[in-house]
Amino acid sequence: MKKELKDWFVPWLMTAREYNTSILDHAWAHPEHARMMLNENPIQPSEKIVQAVADAVRNGNRYPDSMRGLREKIGKMYDLGPDNVAICNGSSDTIDTMMRVFLQPGDEIIMSNPTFGLFPVRAELCGAKVVQIPLREGDLQYDVEGMLNAITERTKLILIINPNNPSGVFINDDDLIRFCETGIPLCIDEAYGAYTPGRPTKAPLIKKYPHVFLSVTLSKAHGFAGIRFGFVLGTEEMIRAFNTVFLPWNVSLMSAAAAEAIMDNPEEVEAKVKHNNRWMDRFYEELKKLGLNPYPAHGNYMLVDATMTGKTTEEILQAARDMQGVLLKKISPIHGKTGYFRVTPGSDEECERFMKFIREYFG
Ligand SMILES: Cc1ncc(COP(=O)(O)O)c(C=O)c1O
Repeated sequence: MKKELKDWFVPWLMTAREYNTSILDHAWAHPEHARMMLNENPIQPSEKIVQAVADAVRNGNRYPDSMRGLREKIGKMYDLGPDNVAICNGSSDTIDTMMRVFLQPGDEIIMSNPTFGLFPVRAELCGAKVVQIPLREGDLQYDVEGMLNAITERTKLILIINPNNPSGVFINDDDLIRFCETGIPLCIDEAYGAYTPGRPTKAPLIKKYPHVFLSVTLSKAHGFAGIRFGFVLGTEEMIRAFNTVFLPWNVSLMSAAAAEAIMDNPEEVEAKVKHNNRWMDRFYEELKKLGLNPYPAHGNYMLVDATMTGKTTEEILQAARDMQGVLLKKISPIHGKTGYFRVTPGSDEECERFMKFIREYFG
């Protein structure tokens, strides 16, 4: 008897969780809604970026090379060489690739709960078991003991997002070192690092700990979510492994040109970070004044605990949409409690709408 199509699929395809992007379809179809639910940058690329992309497309008939010049430029920013850098189409590419570099069916990866939703999905697509340890109650810090105790001989990868998503808080250095010391491959995701320019990157750790790698993206502070550009930093051996799995010529000439242009114009990023951080401070103050509990976030998103209001997350999201056309991020119950949401600064006008919403709804 012939098998059905689904019986030909690898078994973990049928059980993998979905990463649902339907909110993006809604957002593009409703430009009147403030898209404050994803960690996007509300500021468009400058004319310099647009020009760099336009110039690059003229060579669009040619395959890209390994972009050594760009890798050198990135390496220098981290005191590393070009062979310590693998470039890709944003961190999502790194997330998918790291699972394929390290995980076989039955292997385990340790991460927090909640976390950025793409990590568990892409691990499960490798047939791996995702071990999620809840963030600590209250401060929502990583439960370091819990994560270390969860290590088994099947653990092949550990994930630390720094600052974490969705809590926005940094792990302290001693705790991070404890993960490095395990000798198990460790991904440090610095997607939001550029929002705290005074704070050093953890890239130097790769010199002491060869199983540690960093994931960086230009999607956030640089505003490249739709352009798509990111990179991995690691030892030469680590980078060779990533490049074996990344497709050759994976990054388009246009994305690379845009990346180079913004790296040559750091003031563009500074202005974007300033806009974000100004609004993050204002949100924090206002939410506190209203008796809510915003987390002291360091990226472009703020997790808000509104559990004390008795409103559910769904009610809050619906009210924000109905009252001000503001889209917020749904956060599943944390430690069994509903009433959390996450907000990302939009344009000035959108941020004012959010402020109006919280005053009217929670005031
Ligand atoms: C922690 C973290 N890593 C990676 C990503 C993916 O970013 P990219 O657009 O670079 O794929 C996100 C996006 O929100 C994120 O929050």
